[in-house]
Formats: sequence, C-alpha cells, structure tokens
Amino acid sequence: MTDQQRIQQLRTELHRHNHNYYVLNSPTISDQEFDALLRELQDLEAHHPELFDPNSPTQRVGSDLSNEFESVEHQYPMLSLANTYNREEVQQFYERVQEGLAGEPFEICCELKFDGLSISLIYEDGRLQRAVTRGDGVRGDDVTANIRTIRSIPLQLETPTESSPDASHKRGGENTYALSPQKGGDGQFDLFGFADESQSPQSPSHEGSLGSLPPSKFEIRGEVLMPWTSFEALNREREAEEEPLFANPRNAASGTLKSKQPSVVAKRKLDAYLYYLLGEQLPADGHYENMLAARSWGFKVSQHMRKASTLDEVFAFIDYWDVERKNLPVATDGVVLKVNSLRQQQRLGMTAKSPRWAIAYKFQAEQASTILHEVTYQVGRTGAVTPVANMEPVQLSGTMVKRATLHNADFMAQLDLHIGDHVLVEKGGEIIPKIVSVDEAFITDHRGPKVEFITRCPECGAELVRYEGEAAWYCPNDTGCPPQIKGRIEHFVSRRAMNIDTLGPETIDDFYARGLIHNYADLYELQVDQLSGANDSRIRSARKTIQAIADSRQVPFERVLFALGIRFVGENVAKTLARSFKSIDTLAQASLDDFLQINSIGAAIAESVIEWFRNDENQAIVQRLRGYGVQLQLSEESLAQQSDRLAGHTIVISGVFQQHSRDEYKALIEQHGGKNTGSISAKTTFVLAGDNMGPAKLEKAQKLGVPIVSEEEFLQMIK
Ligand code: IVH
Repeated sequence: MTDQQRIQQLRTELHRHNHNYYVLNSPTISDQEFDALLRELQDLEAHHPELFDPNSPTQRVGSDLSNEFESVEHQYPMLSLANTYNREEVQQFYERVQEGLAGEPFEICCELKFDGLSISLIYEDGRLQRAVTRGDGVRGDDVTANIRTIRSIPLQLETPTESSPDASHKRGGENTYALSPQKGGDGQFDLFGFADESQSPQSPSHEGSLGSLPPSKFEIRGEVLMPWTSFEALNREREAEEEPLFANPRNAASGTLKSKQPSVVAKRKLDAYLYYLLGEQLPADGHYENMLAARSWGFKVSQHMRKASTLDEVFAFIDYWDVERKNLPVATDGVVLKVNSLRQQQRLGMTAKSPRWAIAYKFQAEQASTILHEVTYQVGRTGAVTPVANMEPVQLSGTMVKRATLHNADFMAQLDLHIGDHVLVEKGGEIIPKIVSVDEAFITDHRGPKVEFITRCPECGAELVRYEGEAAWYCPNDTGCPPQIKGRIEHFVSRRAMNIDTLGPETIDDFYARGLIHNYADLYELQVDQLSGANDSRIRSARKTIQAIADSRQVPFERVLFALGIRFVGENVAKTLARSFKSIDTLAQASLDDFLQINSIGAAIAESVIEWFRNDENQAIVQRLRGYGVQLQLSEESLAQQSDRLAGHTIVISGVFQQHSRDEYKALIEQHGGKNTGSISAKTTFVLAGDNMGPAKLEKAQKLGVPIVSEEEFLQMIK
C-alpha cells in the first residue's frame, strides 16, 4: 500500500471512529487504539505536506495560530422563530396552520429547542466546506477552523453505500417516505424516549435513510452547545485561574466559538445538534425524514424529535419535556414546532421576520416559593458589597437552593423585601439563582422588618461609599479590610500577574489567618519553616512555594504593574503605562497631563493611578518590592527594542505570515508605539498584510484608500 492510500484509509477509519464515539456514543475501539491510528496518520501527513487536507481527522486539535473571521453572506437568510410562552398561543399557531392549509391534513415535527448558538454548515461532495455563525441573519462570521474541532460535526460524510450495500440510491425530490418514527406508543410519555441523549438507542442511526445519498451540495443548520459537564468543568478551571466565570453554557459556547484560536476551541469540548436541512435536492418532502437521512450521513440529530398529528400530541410533547429537560446533558429552553411537509411549509410561507410554518414555545424559567430568613453581605476583592438572600432551603431545577443574589442596593429596594416574606426564586439561564419578587399571595399585615441596605462594611466597619455611575456600594478601606487584602494577594499571585501558581485562595486564607501575610510584599519574607512547621512531609511543598515566590522577581515590569491591583489598570493598560513611563518611579511622579498625552489613557485611569501612589502604604509596599528585587522598570532588553517609529499609527493585521506569528507582529507594533486594531476604518494608517488577506478586508482597504504594507516592508520600517 502506498503512503497515499494508507493516509486515505486512516482518514476514513478515524472519521468513522469519531462518529461512533461522539455521535453514536458507542466507540468500537479503545482510546489508546484511536490515538495510535491518529499518530500514525500525523506522522504520514508530516512526511507528505502535499497531501494536506483541512478536513483530515488530525485537524480536529486546531491550530494555535490566531485567525480572524471573515464576514460572509448566507445563501439563505437565517431567520429566527416567533416565540410563545403559553398554550393558547400554541393553539393559535396550530389553528393558523390548519387555516393556511385549507383543511389539508398535516403533521407537526416536535423538537427540543437547544440553547446554544446557531450555525450554518455547507457541505459539498460530502465534505465540510464552510461554517458560518448566524450574525445578523444575512451575514455571519466564517468560523470553519473552529467548527472543525468539534468532534461530533462530520468533516467527511459517511456514504450509505459503505454501510448499507443494498441500499437503493435515491437523490432528492420524491415524496415517498412513509416511515413512522414512533415505535408503538399512543401519545403517552414513553413516546418521547430517553432523557439522556447518550442513553438513546443506537440503532435508529440509519432508520429512515434507506439509500438516500447526501445531495452534492447542501446546507445544514443546528446549534453549537457546551454540555453541562464541560461547562461546569470549564468554570471550575476559570475559578482556579481567577478568570471571570461564564454565566451559562450558551455564553460559554458563544465565547468559545468566537475564540481566535482553534486550539482553544478544541479543548473546550463543544457539541452540536443539527435540526434543519436546506438545499435544492433534499431526500424527502418531510423535514423529519430529511433529518433522519442527515443522521445516516453522520450528523448528530436529536433522538427526541417526534411527529405529532394532533394538537393533543403536541401538548403531550411540551408537557413531557417541560419536566424531563432537567435530565438532558445539554441546556434547552423550549420546544420548536415545525409543519413537517416542505411543500406545506412553502404554501404557508413567511412573515417579514419568521416562517409561518414554525414556532418556538419557551419554557418558563423554573420558580419556587420559599421564606426569606436573612440578608447577608459579601465583600469582594474590589470592595464591592453584594447583598445575598438566605432562605429556607427549597428544591429548584434539581438542586437545593438556600441562597440567592440580590445584586445591589437598587435591585433590593425595588423588591421591597421584609424578613419572613415568601419570595419567588428563579433559576434562569444563570448559575446563581435570583429572587424575582415577593410572593404577594402570602403578604399579611404583620410583615417582618423591612430590609435596608447596610451603611457600614460587614467585614471591617468602614463607612460604605458609592462611585459615580456605579450601582454597587464599596468598602473604601482597601488596605484594612480582610477580603480585600486577601483578594489583592490572590490577584498578585495569579497566573497573568506574578504567576506564583502554588498559592491558591485556601493557602492565602491560611497564611493570612496565621498572621504570616498582611499584604503582597509580605510574601517575599516568608520562610520555609513558617510554612511547613515541624511537619517533614510539608517541607517539600513549602520549598516549592518559596522558590516560586523567589522566581516571580523575574516577572517583567508590565506584569508587576498589573499585579499591583490598581483600579482600572488591567493587563493592557499596564502594558501601555509600562511602555510609556518605563519605570515605576516616573509613573509615580506623573501628572494628570502626562497621562492624558497617552493615546488610550483617559482621566479615570489617570486619577486612579495618581490616587494609588498618593497613598503612603502603597509607597511603602513599592519600596519593599524594590528591596526584594522585583522588576520595577522595563528591562534593558525591552528598552533597546522600543522606538516611537509607529507612534500615532493605527495598524490592522490580516492574512498569514512567514517570518513572525501574528502575536509577534502585534507585540512589535506596540513596542514601536503603534496601535493594533481589528477592523479597517478611515482611521487605519495601513494594513499589515500577509498571504491570503481576507477579500472583505482587501475590498474595504481599497475603498477607503488605506495602504497595504507587506511583511518585508513592515520589518524594514521598524528596523
Ligand atoms: S429551526 C426557520 N430548530 O432557536 C427555522 N431552531 O429563534 C430555523 N433553535 O435561531 C430554526 N433549537 O438558534 C430550529 N430544534 C430547533 C432549534 C432551533 C434551537 C434556535 C436557533 C434559532 C432559534 C429560533
């Protein structure tokens, strides 16, 4: 067998194993065997760059090169559906369909409404060509490289010829499907099958598909989702890294899909369900039947679609899933009802915004009524004070809830809460439950005391303050209030700051409680025996911690500046300030005017920095850090590399580069005083263009007369 043949064979085999594992949930080989085949393919492909294929199973891991999304037009606009929240409106929809079809019999395909983000996939000759987000419905972002990393999305379709040799191959059009998907049952609950997609029967994979080959060109739409388990794992990880948590799986999926690095997407374990097939030559007139065909081509199509021929059956589906959805591995927020026949769909047509043949019924967020016992207050690391309702424990969406956020003083005042009130708690798309209202049915003349927002910090007693334009109240005692002190130390050691990764929040809590640290400068005074005590087994880890603290003295100045935790000085601002002022001493002396000379620095940042350095305790801490050898100025090396050659220039990067990565070019632009932005406008000085610059960008640059600069020309400029 030639290498080329073996590559083909491995690709086909690995595509099939991916499908078995991620779509059918029934792998036929072990992970080790899979990895061995994948490695063999990787090796062969490395020897044969001429046989590169973007749809090869090896491409699922995603590149870590940054890519930019090109905006592309949808062939068929991506419409949204009309939403309803009650049964009457479902009934009205049903009657409108009846009327529209002038009494002709029809079926409704009932489906789950998956709560992720919609995606359009284009296939040609059985291969994934392009994946585009919904965007504004007319144009979306081309996210193909990211989508390729989602294992349940087929890159190369299975052809039924291989798996069912005696299939009769029909292509498109004829309305001959008579398969009933409902195996027995009479509209009772068991009709709707298994609650967990992964426990669903494996067999229906080829049901209803007998012999239908995929059309040579078609579009299929569906929802990209982050399963609950991946979502929870991701948030745990982010919590440990002190990164902001995603509020719900939809935001997590959307944030992930918009990541510019496919390798990040690959790690996040997204999934996708497909629910809509479009094209010139579809296998059947029935939407349901088409979806079964799509399933047989390798797509993940929900096992829970059902056809209903009466309104009662539609309601039975809704009622069943209103409860059972809690047991699904992915988030759903309703059901979608679609007239099954494409011919009838066409007959019903569209309104300006949405099709007349479909409707979304949204589930109510689950609510429960319980008693408010007490309101307590949490002080975050920035000093923001959040009110928390403590309630009689109550069962809600599968978990026991006893605390709910009250967000801020205004929200709390609007609720007009009294201790002992019955309150309605809701768990919507967010992880933290919230109180929606006081349950008025229970209000009596003898209500408990009204809940008033506190005026003093519950942790340190300082009088709270409110900053202009912000909803939160803050404790201003930032150097004396324990949660703020601990929070600042946690920020100081975090990965993107000083990266002292052996110190987690519990350890910091422990050191603080034992009086070993009061601020981050104290970290550099810690001794091994203080951490380990007389306990031999802890000496090793104590040494590691001390070493990590010592190593942090090499962290470059811009990250030290970020680590200080000055209000409004995030990573980017810290970089800009470090580059502009070059040392902490010049920064500490800077006037408001000095700050305002800098392009991206406004008055709020300037005042916050000036204020920080005015504080004697902060000054003392800076002096101590200096004594410990922490970097408080730009290194010789980075100073030598700096210039003003690109000062005042706004530069857009586009395309693929030969000599440096995109991130390196970005850093070079900043080093030389320029500004890098994402999209071309009249303000753009020039576009730094590599190979394959996106056509949309090229067109825009030409239209606005923005010059295009090649990699070589750019390097010459900053030489
Ligand atoms: S069909 C023209 N089916 O809900 C019909 N949509 O407002 C196209 N969605 O944007 C959509 N589950 O993101 C359809 N089973 C399902 C769905 C579904 C979730 C989303 C989709 C769409 C929105 C409708």
